[in-house]
Amino acid sequence: MARIIGTGSCMPRNVVTNKSMESYVDTSDEWIVSRTGIKERYISEKDENTGDLGYGAAVEALRDAGIGPMDLDYIIVATTTPHSLVPNTSCYIQGKLGAMNAACFDINAACTGFIYGLEIAQSLLNLKDKEYVLVIGTEVLSKITDFGDRSTCVLFGDGAGAAVLRKGEGILGIVTGADGTKGECLSTGDFAVSNILAGVNESKNLISMDGKEVYKFAVNILPLALEKALEKSDMKAEELDHIIPHQANVRIIESAAKRLHLPLDKFYMNIERTGNTSAASIAIALDEMNKKGLLKMGDKVSMVGFGGGLTYGAICMEWTM
Ligand code: ACO
Repeated sequence: MARIIGTGSCMPRNVVTNKSMESYVDTSDEWIVSRTGIKERYISEKDENTGDLGYGAAVEALRDAGIGPMDLDYIIVATTTPHSLVPNTSCYIQGKLGAMNAACFDINAACTGFIYGLEIAQSLLNLKDKEYVLVIGTEVLSKITDFGDRSTCVLFGDGAGAAVLRKGEGILGIVTGADGTKGECLSTGDFAVSNILAGVNESKNLISMDGKEVYKFAVNILPLALEKALEKSDMKAEELDHIIPHQANVRIIESAAKRLHLPLDKFYMNIERTGNTSAASIAIALDEMNKKGLLKMGDKVSMVGFGGGLTYGAICMEWTM
């Protein structure tokens, strides 16, 4: 049993518009907007890393929850772009927060990482002596993006979002899953530790993607995962007040709305300003909704995502703040 009691987010300073993308690659604002819905994204500078963005989101989430760093029992960081392998990003953030009672670990489930993190947090809160878990989704995908590849570099952005969970009723049902046979559709190639240490294969460590295959997977799995989470929560789709989907592509979200027979305006979207921030995307959107006062006590909210792996996940909850 777990519920969300606070949210936060933190974005890099630098905003890159589609227009400025035209100076890197052969693309246009018109193509990017019509194919993806993205108009601009935040791109981190050299001195902005995964840990610092995650820390910024964590500070806001703790403030919103009204608890201090020492109250935390666990910090879980979902990221595909940890700023170092050791120490993990979670320990880095713990150190900066001074959250010395928290155990810390990172998870990688690509863009579904935040949902995976919430599921793990919920399980941990079933332990008798645990009360608070901080889940952070934080990414600097731009640092592993091939800015010579127009089919991927226009999609991704950087940022971080976080949520504090407390023991209690709120989360109704979570579904997570993966299809590893489709892993090659979205990969960073031979990102083996031995390669990093030897400084070889650098160009192969950037993201490559079979966009069409990922698209096919996404339009199928998004409604399916949401339906499974609804079933687990003993709910019907029409009972949902808000759906917060992974912000990858407006067309994928429109397709999910159609398949679920739900009005598009129930799906929160900020993709035009953020691009695809991977594990941070749902957490950032959740925080935006919370800050704007769009989430009312008792609202039924779902979050649903998919990503590299390929992974997927969905959650249904009652908003209790
Ligand atoms: N600007 C201009 N033209 C482009 C660009 C660009 N940025 N990118 C590709 N094109 C061209 C292609 O070269 C192609 O040209 P051609 O017909 O002469 O060969 C044409 O546009 C059409 O390309 P498609 O790949 O067919 O375009 P599509 O409509 O499929 O859209 C897209 C591509 C946006 C990538 C889409 O497939 C998609 O959104 N897929 C899902 C991707 C996704 O969500 N990934 C994130 C996963 S989450 C994670 O874990 C990070």
